[in-house]
Amino acid sequence: MSTSAPCGSLGLPQSDCTRLFGVLKMEQATSSAFVPGLAGVVAAQSRVGHVDGENGILEYRGYRIETLAENSTFEETAYLLLYGRLPKRAELAEFKSSLQSHRQVKPEILRMIADFPREGHPMAALQTTVAAMGLVYPRTGAGDFQERMIASHRLIAQLPTMLAAIARHSKGQEPIAPRKDLDHAANFLWMINGEVPAPIAARTLDVALILHAEHTLNASTFTCRVVASTLADPYASVSAAIGSLGGPLHGGANEEVLKMLEEIGDPSKAKAWFEDAVAKKKKIMGLGHRVYKVKDPRAYALQTLAERVFAELGSTKLYDIAKEIEKLAADKLGPRGIYPNVDFFSGTVYLKMGIEPILFTPIFAIARVAGYVAHYVEQMEDNKIYRPSQDYLGVHDTPYVPIDQR
Ligand code: COA
Repeated sequence: MSTSAPCGSLGLPQSDCTRLFGVLKMEQATSSAFVPGLAGVVAAQSRVGHVDGENGILEYRGYRIETLAENSTFEETAYLLLYGRLPKRAELAEFKSSLQSHRQVKPEILRMIADFPREGHPMAALQTTVAAMGLVYPRTGAGDFQERMIASHRLIAQLPTMLAAIARHSKGQEPIAPRKDLDHAANFLWMINGEVPAPIAARTLDVALILHAEHTLNASTFTCRVVASTLADPYASVSAAIGSLGGPLHGGANEEVLKMLEEIGDPSKAKAWFEDAVAKKKKIMGLGHRVYKVKDPRAYALQTLAERVFAELGSTKLYDIAKEIEKLAADKLGPRGIYPNVDFFSGTVYLKMGIEPILFTPIFAIARVAGYVAHYVEQMEDNKIYRPSQDYLGVHDTPYVPIDQR
């Protein structure tokens, strides 16, 4: 049993450290019910999405992700997630029109964004503005099915508007108003750059949004359901989920992958970099997954997308480096079930489209919000507040010592 490891870094005396961590480690060894990270624990029943990690299959409402990426649009996919079936033509038109009419963000939120520190991460800003939707639409969203749907449309529609305003504010630029005549992905690119995107750019982002829209009970969706289970409104639930998504072990990995590829710098340097990372037991961002033990089907789909984009716009060295790392990892980490995940290739595609790395993770959020609201609605239909148990590892009946006698 190791008791000294955390003590130095925390600056604790050995006696305190042993009491806090020594007891904890010893008791962990004897505890049987606790499952670290809830791995394999069934914490919800859902009809929204399904992952088969052994065979590399992801389905939204029974439809394979590859089929949706090839044939669908983000709006149609969001409808599918939210309403449980593909829309008829008139239903899709109505849904798109509802999203378009909800795109405008309230002036109070735009004023908040104008006051944000420019150097802050847009994920923190987006989490804040989504929470603020609870202020500008007070006491709405949790009530009945209809109210939840309106709030869901609002969230799907407004996240891109808020993110574009945040991105422009960080560069000292004024926000650009959404356009009702553009589809979801194209409108986002318009609000970022003030230019109507080329069809390939709009379709590439559209497909990337489809591929990121839902992924069962990952950390952020679970967060959303936990918050929803208290009967909190969808704005609080999605805001909390965005906080969870930002961590580098979850959605934040896409930005980290790009930093890694830039650090490697050239495909010829990939081998030495990789061997050093493995020797130092470093986690390589964009590889590995709790559920997939094969290559993530979204990584395949993103690679197909990447190759289409690079064929049209020219390849990039970063993509060549990524492919080199994938090859090296297949030999070394593949036998342990560690393969590229969704975050491995997305950044190289976004960068080619002129999107800055700091926006990679918030773009994940503007896609995943469709999954969050579908889970929110599902949670509310058959709710029980989340309140799991813990193994208490601390001490009991501690005598209270007055402060000047400690
Ligand atoms: N690079 C190198 N080794 C990795 C790895 C990676 N990306 N991912 C997992 N491993 C190794 C761990 O070091 C660990 O080895 P050990 O048993 O020798 O200690 C083992 O595989 C299990 O990893 P663990 O982190 O405990 O698995 P998990 O199921 O809890 O975590 C992830 C899954 C996704 C958090 C993890 O694979 C990871 O951190 N990946 C990098 C971040 C990332 O890309 N996140 C996006 C996920 S979509």
